Amino acid sequence: MLYRPFLPRVLAASSLLVMAAGLAQAQIVSSLSQNIWRIDASEEARDHALPSLSFADPGAREKFTPAVAPPREVPTFDRDASGKVRVHLEIDPGTSLYGTGEVPGPLLRNGRTSVNWNTDSYGYGIDTPSLYQSHPWVLGVRADGSAFGVLADTTWRTAIDLTQGITIVADGPEFPVIVFEAPHPEMVVRRLTQLIGRIDLPPLWALGYHQCRYSYFPDARVREIAREFRERKIPCDVIWMDIDYMKGYRCFTFDDQHFPDPAALNADLHTQGFHTVWMIDPGIKAEPGYSVFDQGSGAEAWVQASDKSTPFKGEVWPGACVFPDFTSAAVRAWWAGLYKDFLAKGIDGVWNDMNEPAVFKVESKTMPEDNWHRADDALGGPGPHAQYHNVYGMLMVKATREGVLAANPDKRPFVLSRASFTGGHRYGAAWTGDNVADWTHLDWSIPMTLNLGLSGQPFAGPDIGGFVGNGDAALYKRWIGIGALLPFARGHTGKENIDKEPWAFGPEVEATARRGIERRYVLMPYIYSLFWKASKTGSPVVMPVFFADPANPDLRAEDDAFLLGDAMLVRCRTTPGADREPAMPRGLWRKFDLRDRIPGDHTDPDLPELYIRGGTIIPSGPVMQHTGATPLEPLTLIVCPDLNGRAQGGMYEDAGEGFAYRAGATRVVGYAVTRTREGVYVLRRTAEEGEYKPGPRSIRVVLVTDEGMFSAQGLDGVSIEIDPAKARRID
Ligand code: GLC
Repeated sequence: MLYRPFLPRVLAASSLLVMAAGLAQAQIVSSLSQNIWRIDASEEARDHALPSLSFADPGAREKFTPAVAPPREVPTFDRDASGKVRVHLEIDPGTSLYGTGEVPGPLLRNGRTSVNWNTDSYGYGIDTPSLYQSHPWVLGVRADGSAFGVLADTTWRTAIDLTQGITIVADGPEFPVIVFEAPHPEMVVRRLTQLIGRIDLPPLWALGYHQCRYSYFPDARVREIAREFRERKIPCDVIWMDIDYMKGYRCFTFDDQHFPDPAALNADLHTQGFHTVWMIDPGIKAEPGYSVFDQGSGAEAWVQASDKSTPFKGEVWPGACVFPDFTSAAVRAWWAGLYKDFLAKGIDGVWNDMNEPAVFKVESKTMPEDNWHRADDALGGPGPHAQYHNVYGMLMVKATREGVLAANPDKRPFVLSRASFTGGHRYGAAWTGDNVADWTHLDWSIPMTLNLGLSGQPFAGPDIGGFVGNGDAALYKRWIGIGALLPFARGHTGKENIDKEPWAFGPEVEATARRGIERRYVLMPYIYSLFWKASKTGSPVVMPVFFADPANPDLRAEDDAFLLGDAMLVRCRTTPGADREPAMPRGLWRKFDLRDRIPGDHTDPDLPELYIRGGTIIPSGPVMQHTGATPLEPLTLIVCPDLNGRAQGGMYEDAGEGFAYRAGATRVVGYAVTRTREGVYVLRRTAEEGEYKPGPRSIRVVLVTDEGMFSAQGLDGVSIEIDPAKARRID
């Protein structure tokens, strides 16, 4: 019944034929839904394909119908000299390539190669082939701005070569390739997430600023950090506990000398409005008497060596370790259960690290590829580590998330993971691993976050300030303002390094850091709305500037600027000296600032420049010390009328925690501005939906015009007039 395109006209249909070992092989082109194709190397390959671990509903990949027509870029399958499966797609001249997950270097990926093989890549550089996450996914944007996407739906190692078209060479058996097509690249990403799923709405606190280091130690130091934030009035929501809180690096234990009472520590931090995230690694110390080891051994929970009967041992922080086999649902359930007592100490979120999995003192930095997983059939059945390596971290985080949710069923789970795979955004946020405290890595932190967003992971960001090495005041000062506007905003640094809290470099840098972080909190109503949109539609929270003008070739490589949602553009300077001016999309974009709430915001040369798109409205709020500190009063609507004097925007809000939002306890409001013949602007609320009722609220309008910014006050729900001739000018 399957549509086999052009098969009767075999010779004419050359794009659908490949010569493999002298044999013509015709791939099968099926349709998954409108503008989404599934292409298999052959009918046999299709019938024997391993299950998808990327699809939110793996069954959706199997519900195909005959394709009416093939996609414009058709993958062809053959084998390379060593017999590996090779998929190739020709691209039109002028096509720009993106995505490929977590890759070092610039946004534009044409001419680059990368290898999907999750690797502990401490201090990575431009030539590091594989970082911590794998995303066998390429987004293509054609010269006219229309777009397509290619997902190689295999968990095995893949090499992506973008030097001549798109070539993907994979270990393991043949696999389906999913091709997406849309008139705009954002639509391609949305279509991807239609299949691989979207993030769940995070708790609001997880969108605040996070402070971490390897490690805050002992508990007194943690308290000191918290106190400093509040005393210095630098907003912060989360303090992180790295591995040194553990007893000898045994996961789910606490060092009784230096962290004797974690529950009291968490309670103290909660009183001050902080949440806490504590680290859990997959390597479990192989030590009889240690309860996690004993339990896991009893349950035969560990990944096996190649003999399929002895637990594999590899060295990580605590010495010789065993590794839970997360490919088994029973093991995941056991692992999830470990979080109950752990979270009972008042822990709010979990940080899963080293889950590539990282193994010390071996050249491969991971376990042998012929180690054995007793995987469930739903995942593909028992198989070698080579098959499951890339999804090890993702499955760990899936289990962790389930455990965190089960322990606190009324709270939204927050998990951060270093290793991941296409689809892993459903379980946790991502950071870009052990970057370096230098200008190159500051520069890369924008495109790396963008390409993760283009690969389906909208909740990502770098270690602000850089993990490896100290860096200096000038670097930190620039990085904090940029990092504070990326989706996941956390300062972190490595063990032997100098302090890198916002105040660590003295008062001048502290003032910039405070402003940079305050910006995030002032923009929180907007940022939260963007996360809601990501959870609903799959649109990334931050996007490349070319999304605003996809046919403009000058924007295709621009990665010193980014769009924060549709309405805002952030222009950064990522080199210490005289910077180039990032290219701007066509259309009306007006520079604005938050000086009405953040003194000095407009004169601080280290903060990125903010632009608002003509015709849009950005919701914002007051400066606050943490997301739970201050009600949204007043709601400040930053308005940039288009050339006709019109603007539109909206906002999503809810309790910021818990699941009542799923039952309708949400509020989605729309606002519109028009201009009268007399040149007076009028703001009206155009829509209000949902059962979340924050109560009466005043509104401030900040009108951004060529002549400056003007403000006016009113009440939410009542129309507000702003006459630039009479309104208060913000200066
Ligand atoms: C890894 C992580 C880093 C963490 C360190 C100690 O290097 O990437 O963020 O601080 O381990 O746990």
